[in-house]
Amino acid sequence: MTTATPVSLNEAVLNEALSGLTASPKVLSPWLFYDERGSELFEAITDLPEYYLTRTERALFATHADDILREFLTPGAPASQSFHSHDTFTIAELGAGSATKTGLLLQAATRLQPNLLYQPIDVSASALEAAENLALTIPGLNVHAQVANYVTEPYTLQHPCTSGNGNGNGHQHGPRSRVLALYIGSSIGNFSPEEAQAILHRLRSHLQPGDALLLGADLAPSAHKPISTILSAYDDAAGVTAAFNLNILTRLNRDLDADFNLDAFSHRARWNANESRIEMHLESLIPQTVHIAGQRIPFAQFETIHTENSHKFTDEALNDLLTRSGFTPTRTFHDPTRSFALTLAHTL
Ligand code: AVJ
Repeated sequence: MTTATPVSLNEAVLNEALSGLTASPKVLSPWLFYDERGSELFEAITDLPEYYLTRTERALFATHADDILREFLTPGAPASQSFHSHDTFTIAELGAGSATKTGLLLQAATRLQPNLLYQPIDVSASALEAAENLALTIPGLNVHAQVANYVTEPYTLQHPCTSGNGNGNGHQHGPRSRVLALYIGSSIGNFSPEEAQAILHRLRSHLQPGDALLLGADLAPSAHKPISTILSAYDDAAGVTAAFNLNILTRLNRDLDADFNLDAFSHRARWNANESRIEMHLESLIPQTVHIAGQRIPFAQFETIHTENSHKFTDEALNDLLTRSGFTPTRTFHDPTRSFALTLAHTL
C-alpha cells in the first residue's frame, strides 16, 4: 500500500529540492530519505551484517538496562548496593526509532515501576504506531505519543505527578516524576555540531534538576574500530544502502514529477576525516540535465549531490557537546569493541 504525500509535505519537498539542487555544491537533506519505501529500506539496513550500529546499541540495552536505570535514579551509587528509589519517573524519546531497542529499557523500567509512562515524539505517525504497540507487549506500560518534528516544532515533556494509583496521568498532586529522555540510534550524527547543540539545548530547557538524557552515538575510528568497518556500514555488499540513497531520486520523480534517470547516478560513501563523518553522495555518471517543476538542473560528469552526513564521535566530543548543551555527563556505557556509546547525562 502506498500513502499519498500531503500537499504541505509536498511543498516542503519542493522547497528542499529546488534550494538544494540549485546550490553549489548540490545537497539534499536526509529527512527526504524517509518516505514509505525509504523507511522500509532503513529497516533493512539495520539488519545488514555490515551495519553494526543498531545491533550494537541493542546489545548495550540488553546488557545494561538495569545499570542505566540505577545510574539515572541514584547517580554514583555502587552497583553492588541493593537498588531502591522512592522517586517515580517517566521515559520520553526524541524520534520513536526502533521500538525493539527502547522496549528492552521499558521492560526493565516497568519492573521498577509498574504503570510507567512512555512519551515518544516523532514526525512519522507510522513510527509512533510501532511505539504505541509496545503497550501490547509490555504490561502496565502507558504510551502517550506526540507527532512533532523535534528539530523545528514545539513539543512538550509531561511531568506527571505521583498518585495513590500510580497511573501517572499528570492530574494528581504530589511530588513530580523525574524524566529520562532518550535520544538514541545516533540520530544526533545527522546534524552539524551547531545543530546538534541546539537540539540538545532545547531538550535541556524542557528538563528540570534530577532529570537525565541518555544519548546513543556511533563512535569515531580507533585502534579497535578501523575506518573500513565504518565505511562498509554505509556501502554494504548487498547494495541496500545504495538503494536507500537512490530512493531519494525516486521520491523526487514521484512527488515533484522530476525526471531523474536512476541508472545515471551512483551511490558513494566517503570518510571525511576533518569533520569525523561519513558522507553519502549521489554521483552523476554522465553530463546531464534533470527537470524539476519546470526548472532545468544541469549536472557535470562526476558532480555529486551530498545527501547525508553521519558524524562519528569520541567520548570527549560527546561529553563536550553535552556540557555545552547544559548537561552533566555522568556515565558512558560502551560495547566491548568501543564502537558505540550510550552516554547518560544529568541535569543539575
Ligand atoms: C538513522 C541517521 C542513524 O547515519 O547511520 C544509515 C542513517 N544512512 N545508512 C546513520 C543511515 C545510511 C543512520 N541514522
